[in-house]
Amino acid sequence: MTRTVGLVSALALASVPAGCASPASAPVATPPAAALAASPPRVVLPPLPDIPLPADAPKPGEWTTWSRDQKMTYMKGSFMTAERAIFASWEPVRFKEITCHHCHGPGVIDGTFRLPNPDLPRLAPGADGFRELLAHEPEVLAFMQKRVVPETARLLGMAPFDMETHTGFSCYQCHVRQG
Ligand code: HEC
Ligand code: HEC
Repeated sequence: MTRTVGLVSALALASVPAGCASPASAPVATPPAAALAASPPRVVLPPLPDIPLPADAPKPGEWTTWSRDQKMTYMKGSFMTAERAIFASWEPVRFKEITCHHCHGPGVIDGTFRLPNPDLPRLAPGADGFRELLAHEPEVLAFMQKRVVPETARLLGMAPFDMETHTGFSCYQCHVRQG
């Protein structure tokens, strides 16, 4: 899929190097105030069921120290169970059968599980791109921003994206940033 969608630069900041590396920590420019002011979409998301942190979840900062086998076991087990609940809270019919492929795409086929996934919609950083997404796909934006990003970060023991420091787990962990 090559569709490109917009995204405020504030969400876009922790760009991720190819190959499942940890989020980049280099700070980038502050987004325009107008973009931030426009950010609360008038969307009421369906409630998220209580998803307790799995007992085998990585402790904060631990994920990058895990072996591939450990990561694989966690992904196949309690991580996947939690992600199913997250995606099903939004579109239960569409995401009834969520698999590794939804996030990892071609990385499943070649065995690398590399992220970001070039088959997910590419996201256009910048305030204009963000306004488009907010105007036309406010529910998607809200679900990704308020559910997928923070919950996935929590499940991986990573810091969620932080507007102040512009670091942490962001959209670009999974989606390719439009160049
Ligand atoms: C909701 C999205 C999502 C789903 C579904 C998902 N993963 Fe992942 N996966 C991730 C994220 C995010 C990472 C962490 C990337 C990082 O380390 O920065 C990851 C990392 C991995 C890694 C480690 C890759 C590396 O090089 O360190 C493996 C292996 C993996 N996943 C396997 C799987 C398997 C197998 C499944 C299906 C059972 C699966 N994943 C389902 C999002 C997902
Ligand atoms: C953990 C991985 C992950 C992260 C992080 C993530 N997404 Fe997604 N995104 C997905 C998956 C999986 C889909 C569904 C793909 C499919 O339908 O096969 C998706 C779909 C989308 C779509 C298309 C929705 C549709 O209905 O077709 C948009 C737009 C999007 N994401 C934007 C974002 C934005 C903006 C962020 C950051 C605020 C973000 N995503 C963060 C995994 C992620």
